[in-house]
Amino acid sequence: MRATRQHASTSEATMNVLIIYATIEGQTRKIGDHLKATLEGEGHRVSAIDATVSQDVPAADTFDAVIVAAPVHAGTFPSTLRRIIKGAAKTLMARPGAFISVSLSAISDDPSELDEIGDMVEAFSNETGWWPVSIHHAAGALKYTEYDFFRRWMLKRISAKEGGPTDTSRDYEFTAWPKLDAFAIEFVEQAPVLAGKI
Ligand SMILES: Cc1cc2nc3c(=O)[nH]c(=O)nc-3n(C[C@H](O)[C@H](O)[C@H](O)COP(=O)(O)O)c2cc1C
Repeated sequence: MRATRQHASTSEATMNVLIIYATIEGQTRKIGDHLKATLEGEGHRVSAIDATVSQDVPAADTFDAVIVAAPVHAGTFPSTLRRIIKGAAKTLMARPGAFISVSLSAISDDPSELDEIGDMVEAFSNETGWWPVSIHHAAGALKYTEYDFFRRWMLKRISAKEGGPTDTSRDYEFTAWPKLDAFAIEFVEQAPVLAGKI
């Protein structure tokens, strides 16, 4: 049986966390599933919605905090996710929210690459009306062996621009799982404090 964590203060209470994500190549689903397991391991209750499968967001009184995760594809986030967040923005804004962008730009040493992702998140918020209180830029994956010819060519170019690998004979995963976990755990633990400011 898993040991129960001792909670030192109310900000470490068990939380109901809603995760909403969209994926095109599968890495953000892996991130959503991973975060669900991590937060459950911390004693929280977690439900996850894959926006590419369902567009139903539960009422605000069923969750205490929301984490939205989305990959960057050709300079923007998937339209399925933009639609679900826009439709539920009022509900989601009733609770503290965190946004996790998933991209190749996150592997770059050039800070302007992350600034670009920051601009995309801002455009996403302007479009949807949902503003996260916390943002994390996670590195995604390169699945060269699964792409068709055009995607492989395109991703090789993007990867070269970010200083990433261009050997297309194998796949690469760049997601820094411990950093991602630390971000999510800290956000959820601070959510009760943040909720008081909404
Ligand atoms: C067709 C395509 C376009 C992409 N465009 C970008 C891009 O413009 N900027 C970027 O930083 N990463 C880009 N990426 C990298 C993805 O963000 C990365 O592979 C991520 O892990 C994909 O997440 P997913 O598997 O959940 O779809 C692109 C990937 C693909 C396949």
